[in-house]
Amino acid sequence: MTEIFLAEHAGFCFGVKRAVDNIEKTLNQNSSEIYTIGLPIHNPQEVKRLENLGLHIAKNENEIPDGATVIIRAHGESLNVINNLLSRNIKVIDMTCPFVKKAQEYAAQFSKQDYQIVLLGDKTHPEIIGIIGHIEQNQQNNKIPSVIINEYEAEKITFSNKIALISQTTQKSEMLSKVASVLVNKCSELHVCNTICKATSERQAAVRNLVHNNNLDGVVLVGGKTSANTAKLNDILLNENVNVLWIEEPSELDSNNNWLLHKNKIGIAAGASTPGWLIINTKNKIALLKEKY
Ligand code: F3S
Repeated sequence: MTEIFLAEHAGFCFGVKRAVDNIEKTLNQNSSEIYTIGLPIHNPQEVKRLENLGLHIAKNENEIPDGATVIIRAHGESLNVINNLLSRNIKVIDMTCPFVKKAQEYAAQFSKQDYQIVLLGDKTHPEIIGIIGHIEQNQQNNKIPSVIINEYEAEKITFSNKIALISQTTQKSEMLSKVASVLVNKCSELHVCNTICKATSERQAAVRNLVHNNNLDGVVLVGGKTSANTAKLNDILLNENVNVLWIEEPSELDSNNNWLLHKNKIGIAAGASTPGWLIINTKNKIALLKEKY
């Protein structure tokens, strides 16, 4: 008999769910064209579903026509972009995740007080670009923020009187501590803003528990192939020496019949950008295919 186990935390985090629910609600209520700047979520199936409901995805703010409505995705956006949209009579619905918003507020507050801003995160990630876009520049404070990814890069930072360290929400708390302990020697005053969100670490702990508690034959991981947080879950599962099948949608199980063969205890895990409907459909599809054997 087949047993299917679902990770305790799987699928949409609070911020992504809030943004996607709002996009759907706005699409239902509005007559104007609704846009996001960039993909609203790193999940092609969910993006397609939203596009089918009428969502337009612009590469940048210049592609959005005057008078349209823009929903700011959970990663947030820089102030310049938002002000530019507002000046063109574009309605802006801000769905920046409140945890990201907090990091933006710290960047604005500490840069105003002439702190050197150090961001821990990926400098190409939209969240970091958005946080940088909230830093106050004035004549006394024309310093460019530093974006670093680890303690070795922190070593290269030159001495400043005051430093404010702000984290990308998906960073690990161990890394924030390591970087803080380096920076404390690079200034007279260090302010550490712990803006790490628990959703990512909860999902990582949940896949470890899924494996440790259930003696599984394999885990089906559901999530976009470009989703960084799903890739991280895949790494964790591989490190746990468990047999993993990473799929974007349940139909991929049809061509992986062999993987399901002889597996009776199967786990399901999913990243923070995987919608619940894909997880449920995957569970049902596994049950259906196993019944056939
Ligand atoms: Fe927000 Fe955390 Fe998700 S910052 S978008 S709840 S991963």
